[in-house]
Amino acid sequence: MARRPVPPFETEIHALADRGVGVGTTPDGREVRVRGTVPGMRVAAEVFKRSGRTLHARRTATIRPAPDAVPPRCAVFGLCGGCTLQELPLAAQRGHKHALAVDAVGGAPTVHAPRGGPHAYGYRNKVELSFGVRRYLSEEDHARGLPVEGRWLGFHAPGRFDRVVDTTRCELVSERMNAVIAAVRAHVLQPHQPPPLDVKCHEGFWRHLALREGMATGELLAVVHTTSQGPPEAVAALAEVLLATPVPGGRLVGVSWRLHDGVSDIAGGEVEATWGRATLREELAGRHFELAPQAFFQTSTEGAEVLYGTVGEALGRGGTLVDLYCGVGAIGLVLADGFDRVIGWEVVPEAVENARANAAANDVDASFEAVKVEEAIGTLGAIPGPRRIVVDPPRAGLHPIAAKALATAEAEVLVYVACHPASLGRDRPLLEAGGWRLTDLWTVDLFPQTGHVEAVARFVREPAP
Ligand SMILES: C[S@@+](CC[C@H](N)C(=O)[O-])C[C@H]1O[C@@H](n2cnc3c(N)ncnc32)[C@H](O)[C@@H]1O
Repeated sequence: MARRPVPPFETEIHALADRGVGVGTTPDGREVRVRGTVPGMRVAAEVFKRSGRTLHARRTATIRPAPDAVPPRCAVFGLCGGCTLQELPLAAQRGHKHALAVDAVGGAPTVHAPRGGPHAYGYRNKVELSFGVRRYLSEEDHARGLPVEGRWLGFHAPGRFDRVVDTTRCELVSERMNAVIAAVRAHVLQPHQPPPLDVKCHEGFWRHLALREGMATGELLAVVHTTSQGPPEAVAALAEVLLATPVPGGRLVGVSWRLHDGVSDIAGGEVEATWGRATLREELAGRHFELAPQAFFQTSTEGAEVLYGTVGEALGRGGTLVDLYCGVGAIGLVLADGFDRVIGWEVVPEAVENARANAAANDVDASFEAVKVEEAIGTLGAIPGPRRIVVDPPRAGLHPIAAKALATAEAEVLVYVACHPASLGRDRPLLEAGGWRLTDLWTVDLFPQTGHVEAVARFVREPAP
């Protein structure tokens, strides 16, 4: 049966949903997610999609901004689709994300105040941009007749694999990274250069630019991704320019070239050459990290410090720290001083190698294994006690086998770090069925201006009061 269309409507935005999308109400009382809105504003909107029972709408006009509205800082706000919360002050963003996460987890006896790093902008230590031959324009710029075809560098517009939002600077990264982005644009987007890849016909050369920064050290790495449809000398010339580019308060220490001829538009491929260094140094909570461009590391160094501090508070101290889904070992290494030893499990072998090297560089007694948590979990009981466990699984949460084994695992405390709080909400009853009780819940905002928020939950085996 065909469903009734929803005519364009006006609504108050009263809450924030997952991924930083505002929630409103249709005139006939149905909940609707309105893209590009924040709580407190009144907007005109039109529905463009239904998924199951959820209506998705886009804002067509702002009738009234939120009472505490602030001007967005980014020149391509609303087009790039990346930082949807810029119209709210940082404290309000954190309040709404906190409420959303606490609700997704199902509350807790003690809910702590929202936390996060000190900066609303300029905090990201990593960014990835795409080169393109077609750009995505606002309706006004289309009407002004600005050209779509050309040579561009920026972020993919939401749902548009073939167009990039041309971006001269990103407000989420530092002035150092923006200096490198400006240098790449000035060099690569010139008519005498080989063209960017046209993803529709798979012709062209420049594909992606990935940048990573050690926020504490000021060191930067660039990775340039291309096809094989251009001369290697073009990348060598770019590397020479970038290594000589003045970077305020920092230094670009290396440029790597990755070649990828595949049809999929991922920033992958083999490393063909490196000019300068292949890794950079970062510092977090007094520990040193040597990072390869592809190694997992929390994307906000200052936010990660707050997150790891919160995990330490939740864990307490003493015995063995078991760090599951440990990445490059950051949680265990940062908190190691409170424990006799650290054990980490992680599926990506390169991350485990990094973790071992990081432990050695920081003189920490730690052992890291390249295993799948759900396959190794049966051996948890063999780790000498007393032990404290932290799990930091990917967005999807715990594997059911891991959740079942952790539910009955012996430990002083179990701390669950969730980058997708709804996954913690789903896993919580599985853990509680084994006798764990959630006592404390924190939220940490690692990514201001976006809908992401981390939840940290502390489970103990004390009987309920
Ligand atoms: C959210 S990250 C946590 C990283 C780390 N705790 C940190 O703060 O840097 C999740 C990690 O889990 C790893 N992972 C994913 N599935 C896994 C599995 N089945 N077993 C072990 N590790 C896994 C990923 O490679 C990733 O490094």
